[in-house]
Amino acid sequence: MAATASTAAGSTHELDLACTVNGEPVRLRVDTRESLLDVLRERLGVTGPKKGCDHGQCGACTVHLDGRRVVSCLTPAVQVTGADVTTVEGVAGPGGELHPLQQAFIDHDALQCGYCTPGQLMSGLACLAEGHAEDDDEVREYMSGNLCRCGAYAGIVAAVRAVAEQGR
Ligand code: FES
Ligand code: FES
Repeated sequence: MAATASTAAGSTHELDLACTVNGEPVRLRVDTRESLLDVLRERLGVTGPKKGCDHGQCGACTVHLDGRRVVSCLTPAVQVTGADVTTVEGVAGPGGELHPLQQAFIDHDALQCGYCTPGQLMSGLACLAEGHAEDDDEVREYMSGNLCRCGAYAGIVAAVRAVAEQGR
């Protein structure tokens, strides 16, 4: 880990963090007890990742670390030093065009209130990249950590499957 312990002038609970968030370099001093989710939302203003449970149980806070999905509420911010962090804000194209999975969510009515949607999208993208979207059951299994209180599951599975089919 490239983070360095603070000197006597600072808290012994603070470390330096350097990473990228959606392609933008980020450098800041973080408390070792801060979660990545809180740093993203409260210090960087990146509010796509949602705080549902804050206990790793709902998936609303899912982001990618170097392309791998993690629940950011259980990820200490200092652990992401040197990593590329991608949130739902980093998914659309350079001109703002929707990612095919974002469009598929719209086309397949895969959201109601939208609270879980950023996490569902990040998990769905990872699911597709991992090759875990061969059939509906596989999508359900590999996205089972993402809960939706509105019950939009049928549309979410359909959206992920549609993009998987497009990629064939
Ligand atoms: S807020 Fe992170 S899993 Fe629920
Ligand atoms: S769309 Fe409302 S929680 Fe999933």
